[in-house]
Amino acid sequence: MRVAVTGGGGFLGSHLCEALLRRGDEIVCLDDFSTGDPANIAPFLGNPAFELVRGDVSRSVDVPGAVDAVAHLASPASPPDYLARPLETLAVGSRGTENALLLAARHDARFVLASTSEVYGDPRCTPRTRRTGGT
Ligand SMILES: NC(=O)c1ccc[n+]([C@@H]2O[C@H](COP(=O)([O-])OP(=O)(O)OC[C@H]3O[C@@H](n4cnc5c(N)ncnc54)[C@H](O)[C@@H]3O)[C@@H](O)[C@H]2O)c1
Repeated sequence: MRVAVTGGGGFLGSHLCEALLRRGDEIVCLDDFSTGDPANIAPFLGNPAFELVRGDVSRSVDVPGAVDAVAHLASPASPPDYLARPLETLAVGSRGTENALLLAARHDARFVLASTSEVYGDPRCTPRTRRTGGT
């Protein structure tokens, strides 16, 4: 498969890229490195199956060629980051998600969204389970 991974330079995204590369997929990683670290994807840069597109997915998501799946992981990912980048957080959760969905729709591709764990509320214990997840 050829998979577009937004936020592929982040914590979860870079591990997803690594796992997909290991199983033989091609990756197009879209990231503006606003909260991610280029070091996360440095090991993949020489891999012909890995392509990096630097940019803000809230503005556009343009991936020439085939796309079989879109994994949308681009977003600030913690309350300190939300507070530091409130408008960017709203933009990537709305327009960024719309742009990623439109990319998937154009290619009839599978779409995976990483929601924020804030939807669970304050956990009573970690790691969370179905019983302990909400308040
Ligand atoms: N880490 C967790 O435990 C966890 C749990 C549940 C959900 N999530 C969700 O998973 C996603 C990824 O989390 P993470 O922990 O890997 O965060 P992260 O900050 O490490 O990665 C997010 C990546 O998205 C990129 N990004 C942010 N805004 C962007 C934009 N407008 N355009 C392009 N790239 C952009 C950042 O540069 C970064 O590389 C987030 O949506 C987060 O809410 C994470």
